[in-house]
Amino acid sequence: MEETSAAVLKNTAELEAFRIKYLGTKGAMKDIFDAFKEVPNENKKEYGQLLNVLKSHVEQVFNQHKEALENLDEGAVHDFDLSMPGIPLDIGARHPINIIKNEMIEIFARIGFSVAEGPEIEDDWHNFTALNTPEDHPARDMQDTFYINKNTLLRTHTSPVQIRLMETQAPPIRVITPGRVYRNETISARAHCTFHQVEGLYINDNVSFADLKQTLLYFAKEMFGQKVEIRLRPSFFPFTEPSAELDITCFICDRKGCPVCKGSGWVEIGGCGMVDPSVLENCKIDHEKYTGFAFGMGIERITLLKYGIDDIRLFYENDVRFLKQFTS
Ligand code: PHE
Repeated sequence: MEETSAAVLKNTAELEAFRIKYLGTKGAMKDIFDAFKEVPNENKKEYGQLLNVLKSHVEQVFNQHKEALENLDEGAVHDFDLSMPGIPLDIGARHPINIIKNEMIEIFARIGFSVAEGPEIEDDWHNFTALNTPEDHPARDMQDTFYINKNTLLRTHTSPVQIRLMETQAPPIRVITPGRVYRNETISARAHCTFHQVEGLYINDNVSFADLKQTLLYFAKEMFGQKVEIRLRPSFFPFTEPSAELDITCFICDRKGCPVCKGSGWVEIGGCGMVDPSVLENCKIDHEKYTGFAFGMGIERITLLKYGIDDIRLFYENDVRFLKQFTS
């Protein structure tokens, strides 16, 4: 019994050999049945019962193997050619936005920034008012907003995550806040109604504008190459003072002037500044004791530049021919 249970039958030829060996007209079962004649009469009953158990067991093993091989037959793969090349698995690629986002997270992690996330559906306080942009403030027009109701909206930037952190944590705070944001803009090759940002915040005692500049320079060199330089142009954001626009030297034409930098040799990649004391106050952080800087960059913009892509809409169309080109 054990011998038949342990049999390994890989194909129909082996199945047939098994049948002949145990169940055939000259097989083992036949011999055992023949021996029945020699069994003394008083033992015949017991021997006969055992014989029947054995026979039905062997038949059952045979039928199980037969069925298994027939199932295999349906797939017609019972004879493997191990030298044949395998069927390649179509491995997915990471989305380019994710590749760049992860790269940005890694770069900032190396200089001590951790990652924080927050809700995409925000309230007015966190997205605007706490960021020194009360209702009727003209700066609200800088970001066209999708309102859900008067007080609820799709966040227009990831700055509200920073407000949530400052409200709940004591300085020092050193975080970046990657995430998706929404703006009611006409969709074109350069703009979309949804995109991604990485914003950063550092609050501590004695944080200076020089710290901000050095942080951004470190990021630009790690991201775009050691030759890259940065430039800060005076600008305005309600939540930072002073504020600046962040440009990097065009690494595509090496500052000579090309269509990407429109001949200027510089491309803009984000905004930044020193956190306005009134924002700290809104979050109950002592602005006499602490200062901080903040910056914000669009991941799409950086991805377009890094890969030389000229249409932002490609990121959201999920065309596999486009997506397949990116590996991480
Ligand atoms: N929140 C700004 C925006 O989305 C970017 C920014 C962040 C600017 C931090 C300055 C400081 O436009």
